[in-house]
Amino acid sequence: MDCATRFRIRNPSPAAASHVAGERRLPGGRASFRPMSSAAPVEEPAAASEARRRPSGDSFIRRHLRTLAPYQPILPFEVLSARLGRRPEDIIKLDANENPYGPPPEVATALGNLKFPYVYPDPESRHLRAALAEDSGLESEYILAGCGADELIDLIMRCVLEPGDKIVDCPPTFTMYEFDASVNGALVIKVPRLPDFSLDVERIVEVVEQEKPKCIFLTSPNNPDGSVINDEDLLKILDLPVLVVLDEAYIEFSSLQSRMSWVKKHDNLIVLRTFSKRAGLAGLRVGYGAFPLSIIEYLWRAKQPYNVSVAAEVSACAALQNPTYLENVKNLLVQERERLFDLLKGIPFLKPFPSRSNFILCEVTSGKDAKKIKEDLAKMGVMIRHYDKKELKGYIRISVGKPEHTDALMKGLNALQL
Ligand SMILES: Cc1ncc(COP(=O)(O)O)c(C=O)c1O
Repeated sequence: MDCATRFRIRNPSPAAASHVAGERRLPGGRASFRPMSSAAPVEEPAAASEARRRPSGDSFIRRHLRTLAPYQPILPFEVLSARLGRRPEDIIKLDANENPYGPPPEVATALGNLKFPYVYPDPESRHLRAALAEDSGLESEYILAGCGADELIDLIMRCVLEPGDKIVDCPPTFTMYEFDASVNGALVIKVPRLPDFSLDVERIVEVVEQEKPKCIFLTSPNNPDGSVINDEDLLKILDLPVLVVLDEAYIEFSSLQSRMSWVKKHDNLIVLRTFSKRAGLAGLRVGYGAFPLSIIEYLWRAKQPYNVSVAAEVSACAALQNPTYLENVKNLLVQERERLFDLLKGIPFLKPFPSRSNFILCEVTSGKDAKKIKEDLAKMGVMIRHYDKKELKGYIRISVGKPEHTDALMKGLNALQL
């Protein structure tokens, strides 16, 4: 699942909170506790004095978290289906970069044969890490698994960042880096990507020298545009005194080699990957990372002991047992991406960007509205993602599906032209 859809981030802004005597009003309108001055009236009504003694719940929450935007849950499939008046099977979900082929059949068999679901999982995910070592060519001592790459992003930040430390983010990109930085009390320095979505390496070098951030998050292929980072740029950034977290959630679709093995040479590099996209296991939550030995030791100490469930580990191992299936599905999606790209080029109000991933970003042109396109397609049962934030306004992102999904999408887009 594309977690970017789950959260809206609001930068901490003192201006957003208005002060009333004795209380601070939060953006949501709720009041939080703050001690009153000792000049309180002698005859205080009982209810008021009770309220004064009992602080409201949110006063216990860490201050930097009180300015986070409220949680915005994604709509579960059944709710979406009720809202659209369509069966879940009839909804074409091209909004979260999931893999519509799902995992190899070995996964269902393995889940059906689970013997000990009542026993806690292996905290070291030994079977999975051994299978990943074979799959990646990198020894298992460099590998740690997590509840999705999402968990590892947060775990890295929890291990690395002191409150007030800085991270570099290169938007438009996956919004979880910014979200997790906010949760971990870090400051985000943005170095926006260039108009072709490549990294502004010169600016990154300047910012690292001036601001001394602790780490930088890079994504290759990048979500939402699908561009990749070349070796030269990556090496320049690795030369800086900063921890580089390279997110390769979509690397399998790029035809490039993963840089997992680079962690043996670069003590400031972490590479993240996932089973959500390649193996169609987004719902089971399995991600993994390659870490230098000098770093991984601390992640072992800090992680939740049972972060990868028995079902998740068994499923991921079963998926790796069928590399032919994984390769075929990847090829089908890459082939479909190229067909989709050509078809989107023919839509007069869209400008698609070439992608090395399983999604295509399009600029919406000709005065059309990105949000309206998304909403109109949703009414036809086709879900896509739209962007209307500062860093990306007037764009849509379409995940690559099966050929019949592309056909339904094109039917919808063509209908919008009429
Ligand atoms: C760039 C990127 N990294 C990580 C993730 C999350 O991966 P996981 O499902 O393993 O948590 C996503 C999900 O969409 C993503 O786009």
